[in-house]
Amino acid sequence: MSTRPWAVILGASSGTGAAIALEMARSRGFDVFGVHRGRYLEQAARLEQEIAQTGRRLVMHQADAGSPEGAVKGAEAVLAHAGPRSVKLFVHSLASGSLGRLVSGEQDQLHHRQIERTFHAMAHSFVYWAQALVARDLLAPEALLLGLTNPLTESHLYNTVAITAAKAALEIYVRHLAVELGPRGHRVNLLKFGTVMTPAVQHVYSPEALAHLESTHQKMNPVGRMCTVEEVARFVPVLLGEEAAWFNGATIDFTGGMTLRLLDLLLNPRR
Ligand SMILES: NC(=O)c1ccc[n+]([C@@H]2O[C@H](COP(=O)([O-])OP(=O)(O)OC[C@H]3O[C@@H](n4cnc5c(N)ncnc54)[C@H](OP(=O)(O)O)[C@@H]3O)[C@@H](O)[C@H]2O)c1
Repeated sequence: MSTRPWAVILGASSGTGAAIALEMARSRGFDVFGVHRGRYLEQAARLEQEIAQTGRRLVMHQADAGSPEGAVKGAEAVLAHAGPRSVKLFVHSLASGSLGRLVSGEQDQLHHRQIERTFHAMAHSFVYWAQALVARDLLAPEALLLGLTNPLTESHLYNTVAITAAKAALEIYVRHLAVELGPRGHRVNLLKFGTVMTPAVQHVYSPEALAHLESTHQKMNPVGRMCTVEEVARFVPVLLGEEAAWFNGATIDFTGGMTLRLLDLLLNPRR
């Protein structure tokens, strides 16, 4: 068991979770406990190599993190590898949601099981893990629990209702956990960022739609390009710093102004 701080990252094999795992090992010297189900084995192996090069440990736990049982088993494994009060950062980076509409009466109408699964993976599991970590006294003093979200809760995007509703629930869980865990010295925040190219996004869109997505974001984002997972990852250590200690129960806008121009683009498409 190491005496270094640990980051527990759900969804560490790919996209945002993998980028945060590497950043925490490389720039902050954290050991990492990652969870994934094994769909991105190549990326997981690459991450293991990259973290090994930093001299830090990566423990990859291959299991479902989106259920109460998964959280309990995962927390038991964290206890075995890292020990009590070792987890300084917990990041929930699971992307596993169903697309569909509510009452279309067509093939894409969401089944209640799809809605339930989406909520378990993308919202409820944040609470299951918080409960399992607290019950085993795994959180270090001043630990940060971080959820990830997107700007979809502020508007409407075709067939993303289950994911968006789960994100709205996640936001409320974050606030309540912040209040409940505050007296113990822990902080709970939600980091909101705009679209970054990850397997989750590539899964949702066709190649043509992806090209359209990219060009639209170039127009939308004031900086004229899409955000990257590395940029999101580099911001996470900032949130752990003393200067950011007053962020609690907060939804932190890291969208780079992504939605500011939506109306402008509709009303003045040629400008
Ligand atoms: N990509 C974006 O544009 C964007 C923007 C804003 C916010 N976010 C948020 O950032 C988070 C990560 O998204 P991403 O795009 O980085 O996703 P991603 O690249 O698809 O990675 C998702 C990760 O979660 C794991 N995973 C999914 N369900 C799991 C489960 N039940 N148990 C264990 N592991 C599971 C996946 O591995 P396995 O499939 O092998 O389990 C993978 O490691 C999500 O909360 C997403 O909403 C993303």
